[in-house]
Parts: sequence; C-alpha cells; structure tokens
Amino acid sequence: MSTPIEILSSRVSHRKLVAPAPSKEQVDAIMAVALRAPDHALLRPWRFRIYTGDALKRLGKHFAAASANADPSIDTDKLAKIEAKSLRAPMIIIVSVIVKEHKKVPEIEQFLSAGASAQNILMAAHFQGIGAMWRTGSLCFNPFMKKELDMEENESIIGFIYLGTEEGDKRPIKAVEQGDHVVWYKD
Ligand SMILES: Cc1cc2nc3c(=O)[nH]c(=O)nc-3n(C[C@H](O)[C@H](O)[C@H](O)COP(=O)(O)O)c2cc1C
Repeated sequence: MSTPIEILSSRVSHRKLVAPAPSKEQVDAIMAVALRAPDHALLRPWRFRIYTGDALKRLGKHFAAASANADPSIDTDKLAKIEAKSLRAPMIIIVSVIVKEHKKVPEIEQFLSAGASAQNILMAAHFQGIGAMWRTGSLCFNPFMKKELDMEENESIIGFIYLGTEEGDKRPIKAVEQGDHVVWYKD
C-alpha cells in the first residue's frame, strides 16, 4: 500500500481522458478538498463551474463564440477545432477567482488561493484514481469568455481542469532534483 507522501508525489497530468466521468460522490469529495484551499481573510474568492454530459457541447459553443468575437477573421476549421476542445475529457471544471476588495488581501493572494484550490482538485482526483490535467490557453484569457459564462466583472478564469478516466499508460514521472530549488538555512 502506498503512503500518502508516495501518492502525493506520484501525481502526473494525463492528456487522454475518456468516459466514465467522475461520479457525483467523487466530485463532491474533490470539491470538499478544493474548498479547503488556503484563503487569507476567508474571502472564498473562488468559483467552480462543472461541465459534463451534453453541457460540454454547450461549453464548446461558448469557446467558439468567444474566439470568433476575439478574432472575427478566424476561419471555420479553426473554430471547429476550438469548439471540439471541450470534448477532450468527460468533465471540465472551470476554476475562476472573483477578486474582492480587502485592505489586507491583494488581488495576487486571491489568485494564489484559487490556484491552490485548482491544485487541490488535481490531488483529490489523483487520490481517487481519476485522471486530470490543468489547462489554460488563450480561452482562459479571452475577455469574451466573461459574457459567454455569465462571469462577474471582477472574475477571471484561472484554469480549465480536465477530468476523466485515464486512457493509455501514465507518463513516466521525471524526478526533479532539489538542486537550486531548495535552499536550507539552519545555522
Ligand atoms: C496554470 C497552468 C496552466 C497550464 N496550461 C496548460 C495548457 O494550456 N496546456 C498544456 O499542455 N499544459 C498546461 N499546463 C501544464 C500541465 O497542466 C502539466 O502540469 C504539465 O504538462 C506537466 O505535467 P505534470 O503535471 O504531469 O508534471 C498548465 C499548468 C499550469 C500550472
């Protein structure tokens, strides 16, 4: 049996994610962990939009509409490819941050909290044997996605978390040496 540390350090992103999607119980467990993200002043600045089933086709239409708005000269082949991106996994969770005014908590801390919640999603998925990958790309930063997803004015997408059953072998994990990344001070 693997130890929690072995499980934590064996997380790896998986690109080929197929049905079945995580169950409602599995997603509830994932959300319980996501909502435990560190959060200065308990602002709860995150939102999680969960798409699965036919809602993924609707999400693809939002992707295409936002892309066409951002670049009216985009060709139809490219738009079709963008629309199909929502079908790369049987579930997508869009993680966003809704930045709140707070004299002690700058915007960057709220983005970091949302990032921590996204990482918690990856880990909670991994613990349950569910494949996952965090993606961004131009849609993440496309201002027209705001209208498409009925986002708030002060809301930003920080990632699309693709979830599903892993198809094919896991990518080998490349060990990262501590090297210059880790510095001790203990005198
Ligand atoms: C904020 C963020 C955005 C990312 N966006 C993408 C992306 O759009 N496309 C992609 O191929 N990988 C993206 N990645 C990287 C993958 O999620 C993954 O971490 C990377 O391929 C390394 O694989 P590993 O997670 O197995 O170590 C992103 C990672 C982060 C943290």
